[in-house]
Amino acid sequence: MLPLTYNAIELPAYNANVLRAILGLHVVEKHLEAIPADSLLIRMEAAPCNPSDIAFLIGGYNVVKPLPAIPGFEGTGTVVAAGTESHARSLIGKRVSCFSQSATYGTWAEYIVLNINQIIPVDDRLSTEQGAVFFVNPFTAFGLFEMAQAKKSKAILINAAGGRVAEIMHAFARKHEIKTLGIVRKSKTADSLIQKGWDSVLVSTEENFKDSLQKKIDEMCVDIAFDAVGGELTGLIAGCLPEDGELVVYGGLSGKEIGGIGSIPLIFRELRIKGFNLNKWFLRAGSQKIAEASLLLTEMHLSGDIESPVSIQVKPEEIIKGLKHYLGSMSEGKMLLRFT
Ligand SMILES: NC(=O)c1ccc[n+]([C@@H]2O[C@H](COP(=O)([O-])OP(=O)(O)OC[C@H]3O[C@@H](n4cnc5c(N)ncnc54)[C@H](OP(=O)(O)O)[C@@H]3O)[C@@H](O)[C@H]2O)c1
Repeated sequence: MLPLTYNAIELPAYNANVLRAILGLHVVEKHLEAIPADSLLIRMEAAPCNPSDIAFLIGGYNVVKPLPAIPGFEGTGTVVAAGTESHARSLIGKRVSCFSQSATYGTWAEYIVLNINQIIPVDDRLSTEQGAVFFVNPFTAFGLFEMAQAKKSKAILINAAGGRVAEIMHAFARKHEIKTLGIVRKSKTADSLIQKGWDSVLVSTEENFKDSLQKKIDEMCVDIAFDAVGGELTGLIAGCLPEDGELVVYGGLSGKEIGGIGSIPLIFRELRIKGFNLNKWFLRAGSQKIAEASLLLTEMHLSGDIESPVSIQVKPEEIIKGLKHYLGSMSEGKMLLRFT
């Protein structure tokens, strides 16, 4: 028997000050609406906070929902009801990982209504913690790593190397014997990555960082770099890349415009700079590649090659505490909202 109402976290207003945006979040009661023919009702188990959720809360993301809005772009749960279409009905009872940028719904809620294209079935052997973060970062890392493979790179550079996308790319690189050079902003993150087997990690705030970066890129023969920070650091990385080097921008964590890209190296080394967007990758990839990637990622989670560290799990009414914790220690793992 389905309930008539459910609890959800609500954002009343976007606020460029992240702390103020977070302090506005509260739990509200919502009414369950009718389920469209090709859609599913999912009882959520858990949902993470990703950097894209933070960007959304401050009104700095490419998704802007009408207010008040339910945040949360991904999570995991079980399909408990469906519309009239047979494909939708065949999914009732299945555990799924889901992704939604819907204006009406968000994953930070006990229930969500989603189209059948917005879910990936989750292997029953994966834990709730693994299922909750299975959609966004693993497939992003897969899509990014494909670029290094297409280039036959011997070594890759990843900025914001303490994050989950970077961690999964590192797991792929180990599997394919490709060397990894990471950039982080805290020395304790660098120490932990070296322990996890990264070949080299540089701290961007240390003296002589630029010289050390150039030296490592040359020594390790890095020819592709993945940047999630932006600002002047992106330009600095570009300027250190060799002939035919490639720079892929997949995040803007600093909130700053990319700068400092020298025209001389760009022209004479024929450098390439491009963006990566997971939504577009899914459209390009097609269902067979997505299914193959899903299988590989499931195996890598089960074997322990990919970890999904969670630094704190909170109930909906503890959302503010959870988000503050996540923002203070992002490299340690995700904050998970638990609904069950
Ligand atoms: N383009 C796409 O389709 C796509 C898809 C998925 C993810 N992404 C992006 O990928 C990036 C990483 O996401 P994630 O989930 O892997 O992150 P995460 O696990 O939450 O970790 C974030 C990492 O970024 C570091 N960081 C945060 N702000 C920074 C700054 N201003 N300068 C330098 N480092 C900073 C943190 O280090 P500290 O511990 O030092 O805070 C932490 O290591 C995000 O920008 C996200 O939006 C993009």
